[in-house]
Amino acid sequence: MRHLLIIATLLLATSAQAETPRDFLTRFEKEAGATSSAERGARFFNSKHGDEWSCASCHTEQPTHTGRHAKTNKAIKPLAPAVNAERFTDTARVDKWFRRNCNDTLNRACSAQEKADVIAWLLTLK
Ligand code: HEC
Repeated sequence: MRHLLIIATLLLATSAQAETPRDFLTRFEKEAGATSSAERGARFFNSKHGDEWSCASCHTEQPTHTGRHAKTNKAIKPLAPAVNAERFTDTARVDKWFRRNCNDTLNRACSAQEKADVIAWLLTLK
């Protein structure tokens, strides 16, 4: 019984561990079954997809900078991990915002490939 408790505690501790942007990149590449392309990510991020907004509409074309919400005008901290260490460290937050923002921008979920490409590009920004 004691052993089981210890194992359960260890498992919990591991799953609560903070993730890194590289972990997310690896996860989405694995889901997509393909490597990412930073260049494709930049194009995806800065283009409109048939709707009013691109990702850059709120996050700017230079996500090392502070963004501004296209509708509410609220400031949005930079998305690039190099200047904002909180980015891509929390699975719940990453999944929630990808879901919401992709829906707002594309009217659908982003594919694993698109997510991998965006993260690959964000990781090149300094
Ligand atoms: C209408 C404005 C808006 C648009 C368009 C938008 N976002 Fe966001 N995004 C936000 C807001 C608001 C947040 C949450 C506040 C914050 O995290 O600073 C956010 C957060 C995120 C996060 C959370 C990252 C983390 O770990 O904290 C990711 C990833 C993200 N956006 C990606 C995208 C991508 C990719 C697109 C284009 C498909 C996009 N966003 C388009 C407003 C927007």
